[in-house]
Amino acid sequence: MFGQSSGKVDLPSMPATLARIIQVTNSPSATSEQLANVVKFDQSLSTKVLRLANSAFLGRRVKAATITEAVVTLGFSSIRNLAASASVVEALFPRRMFVGFSWRDMWTHSVTCAVSAEAIYSAMGCRGSSESAFVAGLLHDIGKLIIARALPQRFLQVVSAVRDYNFEMIRAENNILSTTHYQIGGDLAKQWDFPEMLCAAIAHHHSPEDALEYEELARAVYAANLLAKRLSKNYITGVSVNVSIKDVADAAGLDPRDINMIIDQVKRRLLQCGDILSWGDSMPDIEKAA
Ligand SMILES: [Fe+2]
Ligand SMILES: [Fe+2]
Repeated sequence: MFGQSSGKVDLPSMPATLARIIQVTNSPSATSEQLANVVKFDQSLSTKVLRLANSAFLGRRVKAATITEAVVTLGFSSIRNLAASASVVEALFPRRMFVGFSWRDMWTHSVTCAVSAEAIYSAMGCRGSSESAFVAGLLHDIGKLIIARALPQRFLQVVSAVRDYNFEMIRAENNILSTTHYQIGGDLAKQWDFPEMLCAAIAHHHSPEDALEYEELARAVYAANLLAKRLSKNYITGVSVNVSIKDVADAAGLDPRDINMIIDQVKRRLLQCGDILSWGDSMPDIEKAA
C-alpha cells in the first residue's frame, strides 16, 4: 500500500474512494448524485456522512435520510473534507498498540485541535471559512500516523525518548528519523492532492511563519495545537505538558482574555462533536508495558 517516499519514510497511496471524491468535487459539472454515488460505494464512509449530516455538529434542522440528501445538506467541500478525514482514520490510524502511546487519546487531541483551530481562526478575524481550519486541525499530526505504520520500531524509540528522556517530540524525531512528522504530513497532504492551504498548514503547524501566504491558517493550527495540549489528556503517558493561556495567546497573536472566551466556546463545541470523537472508539488504546 506504500507509494512514493518522503525522505526515509514511504508514503501510503491515497485510498481509492478519496481519489474518486477529489476527482468529482474538482469537476465543475459534477452533480450531487455523482458525488453521492461515490460515497455510497464506501459503506463506512456512508455511515459517517449520514450520521454527521444529522448530528448536532452541523445544527441543521432538516434531517437527511439518504446519502444524496446528506451530500446536498453538507455541500461538496464539506463532503470532501469529511471524506479526507474519514479516509485518514480508516487508512492510516495504526491498528497496533504501542507501549505508552494511546491512539484514542491522540484522536481526542486531534478533534480538540480542530475545534480550537476553528475558534481561533475566527477570533483572528481571518477571511475564508473556518471549516478549513477545522480540517487542518484534525489532520495536523497525520505524519505521526505514517511514521508509526512505516517504521514502528523507530516510532517506539521516538516515544520513549519523549517519555523517558524528556525530549521534545520534534527533537526526538530529528535525532532518530532525520525527519519530522510535519514534513512527512505535509508531503502526504501534497501527494494526496489536498488543497494547497491545507498542505501548508500541516507542513508548517510548528513554524507558521514559513507557510507564507497561508500563515494565518498555519498560525491558527499552531496555537490550537497548544490549546489542545492544555485541554486534553496527553497521548504519551506519563508526560505532562505545561501550556499557559499566555502561551496560546502569544502563538495566536490574541489577548489572553480572548483565549478564555475561546476555551468556553471550544468546550461547548466539543459537546457537539460526539460523532467525530466516537471514531476514536475503535482505535487502539495504550498497551501496558510487560
Ligand atoms: Fe505536531
Ligand atoms: Fe498535535
